[in-house]
Amino acid sequence: MTGSVDVANLNEEQAREELARLADLIGAANIAYHQSDAPQISDAEYDALKWRNSEVEGRFPHLKRSDSPSDQVGAPVSEGFSKVTHAVRMLSLGNAFDDQDMFDFQERIQRYLGTDHGIAFTVEPKIDGLSLSLRYEHGKLTVAATRGDGAVGENVTENARTIKDIPHEIQNVPDVVEVRGEVYMSHADFADLNARQSERGGKTFANPRNAAAGSLRQLDANITRERPLRFFAYAWGELSEPLALTQQGAVARLAEFGFQTNPLTQRFDTMEAALEHYRLIEAQRATLGYDIDGVVYKVDDLALQSRLGFRSTTPRWAIAHKFPAELAWTRLLGIDIQVGRTGALSPVARLDPVTVGGVVVSNATLHNEDYIQGRDSNGDPIRDGKDIRIGDWVQVYRAGDVIPKIADVDLSKRPADAAPFAFPETCPECNSPAVREEGDAVRRCTGGLICPAQAVERLKHFVARKAFDIDGLGAKQIEMFFADPILPINEPADIFTLQARDSVNLARLKNRDGWGDKSAQNLFAAIDDKRTIGFGRLLFGLGIRHVGEAAGNLIAARYGNWAEFTHAMDQAQDPTSDAYTDLIAIDGVGQVMAESLLLAFAPGAERNGIDRLVAHLTIQDAEKPKTDGSPIAGQTLVFTGALERMSRTEAKARAESLGAKVSGSISAKTDLLIAGPGAGSKAKKAADLGIKTIDEDQWIDMITGL
Ligand code: IVH
Repeated sequence: MTGSVDVANLNEEQAREELARLADLIGAANIAYHQSDAPQISDAEYDALKWRNSEVEGRFPHLKRSDSPSDQVGAPVSEGFSKVTHAVRMLSLGNAFDDQDMFDFQERIQRYLGTDHGIAFTVEPKIDGLSLSLRYEHGKLTVAATRGDGAVGENVTENARTIKDIPHEIQNVPDVVEVRGEVYMSHADFADLNARQSERGGKTFANPRNAAAGSLRQLDANITRERPLRFFAYAWGELSEPLALTQQGAVARLAEFGFQTNPLTQRFDTMEAALEHYRLIEAQRATLGYDIDGVVYKVDDLALQSRLGFRSTTPRWAIAHKFPAELAWTRLLGIDIQVGRTGALSPVARLDPVTVGGVVVSNATLHNEDYIQGRDSNGDPIRDGKDIRIGDWVQVYRAGDVIPKIADVDLSKRPADAAPFAFPETCPECNSPAVREEGDAVRRCTGGLICPAQAVERLKHFVARKAFDIDGLGAKQIEMFFADPILPINEPADIFTLQARDSVNLARLKNRDGWGDKSAQNLFAAIDDKRTIGFGRLLFGLGIRHVGEAAGNLIAARYGNWAEFTHAMDQAQDPTSDAYTDLIAIDGVGQVMAESLLLAFAPGAERNGIDRLVAHLTIQDAEKPKTDGSPIAGQTLVFTGALERMSRTEAKARAESLGAKVSGSISAKTDLLIAGPGAGSKAKKAADLGIKTIDEDQWIDMITGL
């Protein structure tokens, strides 16, 4: 059943058919296993099918299917669920790892709000399950949806109805209530389920979270019914009326509606008291009877929560304080230097493989050279820095899903001849000098796009899912085309001339090993598909240092179209220009990002590369932020003097979100001046120019309720 033809002998057409056949077989096996708990084939046969599938994909990477079984890590097929667009996005949480991170969190909040008053927090366990949103209309459960990518989740309503903790009807509630919380499985239920599964010869689950996820995402709700799932409510989405004025009050309402809420949820007036509760929860972790992986702190006052708002994927008003991770000792065999997209030389520890929390770890990040020396460039010891030498015994840990890190070094076991690591001062890939800028802990290759490592990493970033997302052109294919002697892709523009170059080329792509007429045509079609691209995506795709996905969209939204943007970048090369002031005034941009953008758009090789690329593209204008009803949409605002009721950062963020531009100086283009106490020359200049001026109270009245 695994197929008779040796993978090495398959031609392209056979390989394509084989991948389709394997996808069907594996898919059917998944359904049999997940829907009926009565697998049709043995685990060994199943593994053999998956193995053969990955062998064929390895020989013909471009034939890999979008529904490839190798991308489905034991998860039930998700095509079976319809999609639900969340009325309010389901976000994740930022992480903190120690007390200092928590004080920093509090300070960020105070700074944002422009206050030095204490902030009250609710503190509760972070349940290690999967989040679920339950929509009730007129008290009746209408939709239950998983988080999905935060914007769109899976409709698991029928399954959710089988969970005992989830009421089908709730009374005395607003017309629309979305209750959010965590589906989880207790330790005892998890052990029972695994025992039953192995009795039946079914697959067992690695941990309670996988068991909960696998059980909820069943196509047949009758299977979910058999699985002992539970639910804690801790948050909400859309509401037709507010639940309360505080987080604690809102959670109490959820409990009144009939939901389970976590009994360890408590409110504290100071961070010190909150941290004490963290330690209490940590001490009880082993005896709670369900998995938790940290503690969540939330600003209690909901009015403050709404003022604080969100960064692109996480709230400013909440954070997860994680528990320390599992640790293991092993030997540091060597230090490799990787050169990244922005030229950063990243040292990576090569380790004697060791198991940490069930996963084999063979490398770990060493961050940068100061970290390895344990000192900064002035020779002063740095926080969390280590003196790490090849041959040392090091203690490694995994924090969540991220790359393993080094927790400790055992100096008593250091080999006598272990010398401090000599960090390279030239790039190992292109030999260009690698330098550290003032105040930067990272040494960077100065080769720019001359450096093959930087160029290839930039290209990989360019084709990545959140950037151009070209079907069939991933990191592997970029490696293949990069510096190819006949049909090279050395810069993004080359992607869009690939087909033209191929057609005048005697050594056609379709004749290459692993390619055929169809696959070459598919690639060209996929490339054509991306000749029209959103402005924000393009900006992110360029891979400019400091310009991430959120920043790309932000800048695109501010300038609207490419022509206006590049014109502004040309003007802004002069730091005394209005264009420059406008650029750094964008909330979320700031000087560092601005300088990096300006460098990329300054006349020179990089800009030429961008212009060559853009010549092949149709760039879609960005959507301007929704500013319906905003009295300041499109206006230019200036803040001066002291603000007492909010910080400048918050004021700027609010103004931007209402479609206004914030500028640092008064000019004829200014529409409105917000002047706090101590306003000096700017207020006078505004008066001279006849510009409308308001005080902070009027400003707050203006934006309240928007
Ligand atoms: S609050 C806007 N509270 O952790 C913030 N999340 O890492 C909404 N989680 O996606 C989340 N226990 O699935 C919150 N007590 C708790 C939680 C909790 C577990 C999960 C949740 C979220 C993830 C973020």
